[in-house]
Amino acid sequence: MKKITHAVIPVAGFGTRMLPLSKAVPKELLPLGNRPAIHYVVEEAIAAGIKHIVLVGHAQKSAIENYFDINAELDNQLRVKGKDALADSLNWLPEDVTISTIRQGKALGLGHAVLAARPIIGQHDFAVLLPDVVLDPFTTDLKNDNLAFMLAEFAKRGHSQILVEKVADEDVSKYGIAKLDENVSFENSIDTNVSFKVAGFVEKPSLAEAPSRLAVVGRYAFSNQIFDYLADTTASVGGEIQLTDAIDALISQQGVEVTTMLGCSYDAGDMRSYMQAFIYFAERQLDGDK
Ligand code: G1P
Repeated sequence: MKKITHAVIPVAGFGTRMLPLSKAVPKELLPLGNRPAIHYVVEEAIAAGIKHIVLVGHAQKSAIENYFDINAELDNQLRVKGKDALADSLNWLPEDVTISTIRQGKALGLGHAVLAARPIIGQHDFAVLLPDVVLDPFTTDLKNDNLAFMLAEFAKRGHSQILVEKVADEDVSKYGIAKLDENVSFENSIDTNVSFKVAGFVEKPSLAEAPSRLAVVGRYAFSNQIFDYLADTTASVGGEIQLTDAIDALISQQGVEVTTMLGCSYDAGDMRSYMQAFIYFAERQLDGDK
């Protein structure tokens, strides 16, 4: 099985939960400490070995692709003023990493956004990183371990991997929730990722309907066949084409596993948790981290 080197980051959403902050600034560019939120997500992908990132965007969010481009005029101006180190720090993307953009067109849901990347991803297997979710980059290298572990598991056995985290009862209705095989009992593991087969997912269930407390975090490693299932998926929960429905179809045809998450995740797409995350990132950076 080949190593995954491609990733899709859907960035087309309007971020209505982040208004008014997200009215003129894409929510993915809102700061977490001293960097835009999506900066950490792209760093995470690159650290896990991703070489080609496809941003699935929107006409009104071109500031995101500009963030990852070189601003030649600014670069030149900084260097003329002798600020070479600052100019260098802005050109941090490694030479061997490509960032492409494609537009989603219609806002028909997360599944539709991932499918929009197909013309660029082609026949490759690929990862998906949802930029609302930022994994803690400060706690001992944990940032890189989850996605890197998922990609290594995928490379070993060819089973798609979905990162999951145990959430509180009041939060299950915000997420895709994993349905485990009856013989799997899961306890939070604190020092190692674990992967095991999953029976299915339910998108944003009520607490009564939730099959477990294991929520989809927003990191996926997919075999290319997910595109075929996405192409056949029709709108369901919330009137949207859901990625979780295509994953359920993939499960019925080939092995799909959940990977338990290490460390903490922060939801930068929701005002309350975004503000908490901002304070955490800012405090760590004021203390000298990164
Ligand atoms: C999406 C997915 C959901 C997942 C969540 C993680 O939902 O559909 O399964 O748990 O991301 O953030 P959204 O937050 O886009 O509504």
